[in-house]
Amino acid sequence: MKKNIEDLLPPHIRALHPYVPGKPIEEVERELKISAIKLASNENPLGPSPRAMEAMREYVGQVHRYPDGQGFYLRRKLAERFSLHPDQVLLGAGTTDIIEMVAKAFLQGQAEGVTAEGSFVMYYVVAQMLGAALHCVPLKNYTYDVEAIAEAITPRIRVVFFANPNNPTGTYVRAREIDRLLDRIPDGVLLVLDEAYAEYVDDPEYSHSIDYVRQGRNVLVLRTFSKVHGLAGLRVGYGLGVSNLVNCLNLVRGPFNTSSIAQVAAMAAMDDHAHVRESVENNRREMRWLCEQLDRLGVRYVPSVTNFLLVDTGRDANETFQLLLRQGVIVRPMKENGFPTAFRVTIGRHDENVRFIESLKRAGMTAPVPA
Ligand SMILES: Cc1ncc(COP(=O)(O)O)c(C=O)c1O
Repeated sequence: MKKNIEDLLPPHIRALHPYVPGKPIEEVERELKISAIKLASNENPLGPSPRAMEAMREYVGQVHRYPDGQGFYLRRKLAERFSLHPDQVLLGAGTTDIIEMVAKAFLQGQAEGVTAEGSFVMYYVVAQMLGAALHCVPLKNYTYDVEAIAEAITPRIRVVFFANPNNPTGTYVRAREIDRLLDRIPDGVLLVLDEAYAEYVDDPEYSHSIDYVRQGRNVLVLRTFSKVHGLAGLRVGYGLGVSNLVNCLNLVRGPFNTSSIAQVAAMAAMDDHAHVRESVENNRREMRWLCEQLDRLGVRYVPSVTNFLLVDTGRDANETFQLLLRQGVIVRPMKENGFPTAFRVTIGRHDENVRFIESLKRAGMTAPVPA
């Protein structure tokens, strides 16, 4: 009898749901025949780093060559930036690629992981892909609960995934809390400190994660070019960790996982301080404006240090998503992420944020604060 191809899959792979990305603008415009704005994927609303664009234009005639699989120049530049050795730098096709490498390398056999509920979906996806148990502890006040994470560590735990700041809540914990967590984590457990939104955080006490790497702690710091540098479409991110750890992860890294053009663009973006500054300033100004508007409308949200906000209208998240979508505003419903009445909205340019607020009003998603 002929077998269905799905029947050949192991059950833990069959149970996977494909990652649902933010709805593309083109798709919405095609379906609804209106111009749309996308505030769904925490991208940089100011566009790519102009220096990166220039570097890509110059490089484009060389893309018939395979990339440098070791990413020598980008790793060297990152190492210099953080006063580390290039052997302490790992490149990924986005940090999601590195999250997957961590799971492939360390979540095999009986090994288990720990993270929080209501955090970055890729942690759950990669663990399930490997058929590994991932213990998820509840957030406390929308924030990673360091105590609960530490309590969840058993002898089987090999990896802790810790998004700081967290996506989709936009909250963070300070460096001294991570210090305390590290003091409680046994030697054989890797702490993955995912700092994808680090550049947006305006608090000197936020993080000294690179010191952990310098001190040889069992920590992998993740950063990305997808957010503040505006290079999400190129897929390039990096991990910083002790060289032994980087060597281990290199064993499961694809041979040409970051493209040549992404490497070239990332190096140029690192020197584009004006673009980073403008992006952070736009975000700060617009975050303040959006929060004022939401306060005025009586709409609840979680105060955020990132480039997005978790907004809770108290109504079904998917319905709100549809109501906004019909007006050409694409946000990300968070029902499947454990927040049934909330959606995540990326901080856009001012005109986009005005349109978002207007469509929220038109959708009747406001509850004026009683006088
Ligand atoms: C917490 C967190 N980590 C990692 C990523 C992945 O970023 P990338 O794979 O584009 O580097 C994201 C993206 O949204 C994120 O929110």
